[in-house]
Amino acid sequence: MRAQKTTRHSTRGSTRRPAEKDAIALLKEDHEKVRELLGELEETTSKATSRRQTLLKSIEQELKIHTKIEEEIFYPAFRDASSKEDDKKLYYEALEEHHVVDMVLPEIKKIDAGSDEFAAKAKVLKDLVEHHAEEEETEMFPRARKLMDREELLQLGQQIAQAKESMTGGILTRLTEMVRS
Ligand SMILES: [Fe+2]
Ligand SMILES: [Fe+2]
Repeated sequence: MRAQKTTRHSTRGSTRRPAEKDAIALLKEDHEKVRELLGELEETTSKATSRRQTLLKSIEQELKIHTKIEEEIFYPAFRDASSKEDDKKLYYEALEEHHVVDMVLPEIKKIDAGSDEFAAKAKVLKDLVEHHAEEEETEMFPRARKLMDREELLQLGQQIAQAKESMTGGILTRLTEMVRS
């Protein structure tokens, strides 16, 4: 696991706020976390049923919060920043891909975690999410950096951090710690 950096940002000699993360950096962090969890799920054996369920729960929670944040905060800002047809396409495709993930998740939850079907569906979910995150990172996010300035992306980052905090209330952190222990 990656070690958390504890280095403090120096504010010496200025009234500058401590460095904040912009919207794209935050969304990428979520992607990384979900990729790791999906990778861990793929490595489980059919005997590890309770671990599979715990991991799936954690993945579901992460995805729900992440997609909600994108749909309510980031995607609309991206859509509003551009009048280009190609950007509109990216926006609608991203929404549709969220929709597909929404349909696959409840199906996996219904299946016996010790079955081959579970492993197959978990693999499909992993491929779907990875494909979607990859597209955001290589197409939508670079476009967003062109369309929005630094200040705008930092403000969106703040909104995202606040929305996430109010949605999780620390639950996610505890759940992730549980999975990792
Ligand atoms: Fe997304
Ligand atoms: Fe995303």
